[in-house]
This record gives sequence, C-alpha cells and structure tokens, in this order.
Amino acid sequence: MSLLSPKWGLGRSLLAIAPFLFVAPLIALKQHYSLPEPETALTNARTNLPQISEARILGYAKYLSEEIGYRTVGTYEHAVADTWMVQQAEEAKRNCERVVKETGRKLQCEVWRQQGSGKQRFDMMGKRLYKSYQNLTNIVVRLSDGTDAGKEHALLLNSHLDSTLPSPGAADDAISVGIMLDCIRVLVDTPEWSPAHAVIFLFNHAEESLQDGSHLFSTQHPTAHTVRAVINLEAAGTTGRELLFQATSEEMVEAYSNVPRPFGTIFANDIFNSGVLLSDTDFRQFEEYLDVPGLDMAIVGNSYLYHMRKDLVENIEAGVAQNMGENTLALIRHLTAPGSAIPKLANFERKRMRMVYFGLMSHFFMYRFSTAKVIYGALLAGALVLSRSAWHGQRRGVLAVFGGLLGSLLAPNIVALIMHRVLGKGMSWFAGGHFAAIGLYSPATLLGGLASQLFVPTTDEKTVFASILLLQTATAFGVQLLNVGSAAMFFISGLPIFLALLVNNMALVTRKGEISLWTYVLGQFLPLLTGTLIMVPTVEVFVPLTGRIGNVPADNIVATLISVLSAQAVPLAIPFAHRFGKKSLRKLVVVLGTATLLNMAIYARKDVFDEMHQKRLFVLHLENVTTHEHHLHIASADGAPGFHELVKDISTEFGGALSIAEPAPLVMNDYNADWDSLYPFSAFLSPYKIELARDPEYTSPWIAPDTGFSLSTVNDATNLAAGTRSFTLQINHPGLIWTVIAFDAHVLQWNLDDNPPAEYARHHVKEGSFYKADTWTLDLVVKLPEDGNPGILFNFIGLQEKAMWPGKKAVKAQGGPAMQLFENMDAWLDEKTGGTVDALLLGCVAGAVVV
Ligand SMILES: *[C@@H]1O[C@H](CO)[C@@H](O)[C@H](O)[C@H]1NC(C)=O
Ligand SMILES: [Zn+2]
Repeated sequence: MSLLSPKWGLGRSLLAIAPFLFVAPLIALKQHYSLPEPETALTNARTNLPQISEARILGYAKYLSEEIGYRTVGTYEHAVADTWMVQQAEEAKRNCERVVKETGRKLQCEVWRQQGSGKQRFDMMGKRLYKSYQNLTNIVVRLSDGTDAGKEHALLLNSHLDSTLPSPGAADDAISVGIMLDCIRVLVDTPEWSPAHAVIFLFNHAEESLQDGSHLFSTQHPTAHTVRAVINLEAAGTTGRELLFQATSEEMVEAYSNVPRPFGTIFANDIFNSGVLLSDTDFRQFEEYLDVPGLDMAIVGNSYLYHMRKDLVENIEAGVAQNMGENTLALIRHLTAPGSAIPKLANFERKRMRMVYFGLMSHFFMYRFSTAKVIYGALLAGALVLSRSAWHGQRRGVLAVFGGLLGSLLAPNIVALIMHRVLGKGMSWFAGGHFAAIGLYSPATLLGGLASQLFVPTTDEKTVFASILLLQTATAFGVQLLNVGSAAMFFISGLPIFLALLVNNMALVTRKGEISLWTYVLGQFLPLLTGTLIMVPTVEVFVPLTGRIGNVPADNIVATLISVLSAQAVPLAIPFAHRFGKKSLRKLVVVLGTATLLNMAIYARKDVFDEMHQKRLFVLHLENVTTHEHHLHIASADGAPGFHELVKDISTEFGGALSIAEPAPLVMNDYNADWDSLYPFSAFLSPYKIELARDPEYTSPWIAPDTGFSLSTVNDATNLAAGTRSFTLQINHPGLIWTVIAFDAHVLQWNLDDNPPAEYARHHVKEGSFYKADTWTLDLVVKLPEDGNPGILFNFIGLQEKAMWPGKKAVKAQGGPAMQLFENMDAWLDEKTGGTVDALLLGCVAGAVVV
C-alpha cells in the first residue's frame, strides 16, 4: 500500500489526520489571543527612547472611571472630568513648551477648550430622531511644526471622555483617552520628532448622548476644516486586540498596514456596514460633516461588560492598552511623516472603498477589487480545468454539496429550536461565551452536513471534491463581482483546496481520479486556520450582543451564524463523507448524533447568566408631574427565559399595597413615552409597569412654579389665513438631564434642520447639555389641523441628575424616593439573582401637556 495514498478505514484515517486538524485551530487561537507584554516604564531601557506605557494609560483610565466615576453627560461628574481634562492638556502643553525651549525643536502644542451648542438630526435604528445640545465641551490638543504649512492638513485622533448612563466607562472610552495622552507624551519626548503634518487630538466630551461632541467639533471648531483623515478609538469590550472594523480609503488601509500588530479584515468591515451590529461611532459625524476618510478601531473582546457597571480597569485584560497604544502611535508617526498621504486626502471623494484587506498570521494582505476579480477569476478557471475529469458527474456532486449545506444549516437550527421552544432553555450558551456556543452548534453542523449525505445518491468521492472546489472558487469570483470584499473568505479556502488537488493529481496518487488521504490534510489546513480566525472574533461579538438586542430568536441567530462559519471552515467534510461508503458514514453519524444529544442535555442544565455575564435590566422610577402618580417600570433587552417571573417577584416585593399578582407586559412603540429617555434603543425592550404607593409626606420638587419641570410657549402666533401657527417651545428642566419631548404635528418649519417631513407625523427631540445648563428651546411653525383645534400634546421626560443608581450612590440622600427604592432594590436583586443581574436604575420625571 502506498503511504502517499493510504487506503485506511474510517477510524484509522480520522486518527491519522486528527493531529493536523487540531493544530490548525490552535495556531489560529494563539494568534487571536496574542497581546504584547504591558510596559510600566515610560522609557525603553534598551533604546533610552520614550515608549507607550500601559501602566500610565490605565492610571488615567482608573482615575476617570473610579475617582471621578460615571461621567454621564450633564452630570456633576461629567463637569469634573471636563476640568480634569483641561488640566491634563495644559500640562502636556507646558511639557511641550519646555522641550521646545530646551532643544529648539520644530514643535508647537496648542490647546482649546471648545464649548458650544447645536442641533442635529440623528437617525438611528430606522427611526427619525433629533438632538439639541447646550454648552457641551471638547478639549482639543494640536501638535504641529508651528508653521502654517504644517497646519494646513491635519490628522484627527478621537476618543470620548464621557461614559454612558449605567457605566463607569473604563474601556469605553477612558482607556483611549489615556492612549491619546500617552501618545502625546511619547511624541513630544521623542528627540528630533517633528510632524510634517499636524495631528489634532480631540478629547470629545459627549459621545454617549448620541455623538454631540464630535458634531460640535466637526461643525464649529476652528481647526475642523484642516482635518484630512480621522482615526477613531473606541471600545465595546475589555479584552483582546483592538479590531479595525471600518476603513474608508486605500491610503488609510495602507497606513494601517504599518502598525506592529494589525487586526482587521474586510469581513469585519462588511459586517459593520451591514448595520446588523446596531452600533455607531463618532466616525459617522466625521464622515458626514468633515467628509474625510479614516479608520475606526475598537476593543471588542468580552463585550459582556460593554455599557455595564463592570467596565472597570480591573476587568481590562493586560496588554490591551499596550497593543492599542503602540498601534495608534505607529499610525500617527506614519501619517504625520513627510511624504504621508494626508495632504493628498484633501481631494478625497466619499465612495465605497474598493480594497480587500485582511491580516493572516503576521502578514497583512491588501489588494484592489480589480485585482481580486482577476485572481479569483483565474482560480476559478484553474479549478475548472483541474476538475474536468469530474465534470460529467457534476449533477450528483452539486446535489451532494447543496444537500450538505442544507443539512449543516438545518441540524444546529433544530437543536436551537428544541433548546429554546421545547426545553425552555434558550441562550444556555450565553454565560459560557463564544466557545460554549461553538461547542453546542459546531458538532451539530458537522452532524447535519454528514447526515445529509446519507440521503443523497451515492457519488464518487472525487466528484464531490471537485464540486466543493468549484463552489468555493465560483462563490469567491461571483461575490467579488458584486463588489463585496468578503469574497476573500471563499478565495482563502478555495486556493488551498485547488493546490491540494493539484498536488494530489501530480504527486500523491497513481490512479487517476483517486483522492489521497493527505490531500484532505493539505486542502483543509488553511481553511480551518482562517475559518477559526474569522469564526472566533465574529461569534465573540455576536454572543454577547444577544444580551442586548431584545426578544429576538437568539438561539437560531447564533446557530445559523456558527453553522455557516463552521461549514466554511471545514468544506472538505462533504467529500470525506463519500470516501468510506454509507455503512461507515452511518456509524459516524450515530456517534455525532449521540454526542449532540449528550451536549444538549449538558447545556440544558446551564444557567444563562452569571456574575461576569450578567443580564441587563432596565428600571425606571417614574414620577408623573401631570397625574402625580409614581410607577416602577421594568424592562429587559434579551429573550432569555425567566424575566416574567423576576418581574412578578419585584412587584410582590416593591409594589406594596398596590402590587398585583400577574403584571402584564406592555406594548413598546413610538407612543410609549415612559421609555423615551432610551429612545430609540427602547424598541429592544419588553416593558412592564407597576404602580407604586405614594408617601403622603412627599412634596414634589418638580412641580414648583419656577423651579419645576415645565414646557411653555413664547411668541405664540396663529395665522388663520395661512393656516399656520408659529411659536417657540421653552423647556425648563432644573435638576433633570437628557430631557426628551415627543409630539404629533405637521411641522412646516423648525430650527432642527431644513427638512421636516411633509406630513403629520410623530417627532422625538432629545436634549443633552452641560451640567446645570437647564433650559432649551425649539422654534416651530406647524400647520393648523382641519378641525381647527390648535393644541398639540407634548410628552416630556427627563432623568434626575441625582437619582441614578449606582452612579450617584455618593449623594444618595439627595435623590429622593427614587434613590431610596433603588438602594433597596439593588441589594435585593443582587441577593435574589446571585449577582447575575446588572440593573440600570434611573429616577425619571415625566408629564404631558397640551400647548
Ligand atoms: C451656556 O453658557 C453661557 C455662557 O457661560 C451662559 O450664558 C448660558 O446661560 C448657558 N446656557 C445654558 C442653557 O445654560
Ligand atoms: Zn464609546
């Protein structure tokens, strides 16, 4: 028997190839999880040059997230962070001036504290939405060579200083603030460094309120018109290498190829652009208002802590800051050097970037779409020639391959349905993370793929092998013809299969049409490696996402995702199924089927949430200043089982005399104004409402004539002849932040934008302002309704600046009945659920008025 083409049975063959098939994913995982050693020293002991210091970056992040705390736009802490940032910028400037004085370097550091107001339309999740912001701030530092020419074209770096409602925001985005500060230090302290093109560091102080800070900078800052490209630093997690998930020009991808540890693929880019992640960054503002290209990068591993209380420095993986810092520094150095692409980008025209890029092990590949079409086309032609002997049987081959795809999609989805619908054990993989999800659905994918081959006509192994090769290469070519760069995925698996078949025919086998066992190893190694490199980060992002996108069929979404990516990672499983005959295949299917059943039994015993993979719970204590009622609103943003029972328990525990045994879920739509503070994200929520008994002693501070929460009109004028009414709506909200108004009207004109919808419609306008900026206005001209009644019903709501748990724990005494309830409820929840719930507890004040 030839060792080049051994004729072993199924068991022995599997044993022989198993080591190779284990090694491929291991190499991929090692690559995926590699991070540099974190540095503590500011200067490299060997070169004596300044270096990025993780210790210093995390020091900043810790100060912001723990000393200052929850930096929610409009709060006192947010104002404190503003002052702190100005001090840091001024200190950097003093250091810069000292260096210049001592060395005479061509270097200038300038600092701005920008403060301003504005209005913007900000559509999101398919909803039309408007923002009005008052007196928000940004801190801006510009490094240049001090000349006009050096300042004419600038690179912009952006991170945000504020944190979102329920989170201290150590990773999101304090770590990036620290990285930018440390980059300034390293650049200024590097002897001889002088930027040919300026670099502007924007410490943006209002991102979480829907990108007001970047809007303010882009539309009003004196340096905004000099920006030619942007690099945005973000986080939606706390571990791993930061991912490049948006790149919008070839020049910027080229610049990125110079970073020490690139981690970005066109695949991530395509996923982000498809909108399925439902997230958005400041990058959007820079694209829209500055019309510049750029790179959008974020820490994405362990996204469970994204916008949670546990987004703390202690949960940030060691090496994350070092890695992101060094990559960022390399980009700045590259793009500010003489000969950089920055000035060329002045002629940038916004269009879809036509460049394929991906990192594979230590290499970063990039090529144009036009090149891709030629290469993929050539591969397809080569595949056609190579497999010509198998052409005549292709009808069966195609049947086998499509049967395989169908089977591999069906089996994990059936598993998902049984877990979720039949056993009531949906999302059982959630706390276990991406490996748990892969562990449940990947074996089921293989089972489905192989089992399907029992139902297709008996087909020659070499025919099916050729079919797989043709499918991969034709898909690569076809998808690339549609100008979707992710076609590279199919090229990367098609190419090694092609080469393996070539080697097979030329060297391995003696009989024409035979497939050697080793051909599987050759052809499968790279697809498995790259498949793992794609699957792991994708599932890593999607699994935690299911904890915050509402009551969706999460099990089937994750099952489908994993089945598609697994099938793509092991394409040769289908021809392999035809190698040993149906009897052996049946045995293999029985083994895999048993394993899958066992797997399901194990997963059915798992808890969905644990302390580091918590359920997100949204709780409002809402005082209605119109009806004087108090309610408790409770909502969840996932489809995991057990929520209704939790609401029942909360009702019994905190509903007091008014508690009801069977609280009923409410409808969530644009008219559910109670949740407008979270609009349009509120669309993900399944809400309940429980009435609370009022303390007879309580006197509301929100209804006082001058200091209460009020909506009124100024300059109200009705023009009966024209059928219009014009007025300025004035909203006073002392002590309340993030106010929102919602109303129905046919608006003809307003000062939000020049383009109100030409019909009677519902409008949502959200406000975000600096601490103590407690009034805002809206100019409106509306069409008078046919019935002649000019009154418009306005729903309004705001958050109590001093009643947000746990952000405002330190001043809880000033938070009124809401904070008293939150303190008790938080402790009770913790005890009841064993710390598996992260509740966002907000004290709200709302009302409705006809004006
Ligand atoms: C914004 O700041 C200016 C200057 O400090 C102040 O006069 C104005 O009242 C502020 N606006 C609001 C809405 O508080
Ligand atoms: Zn952020």
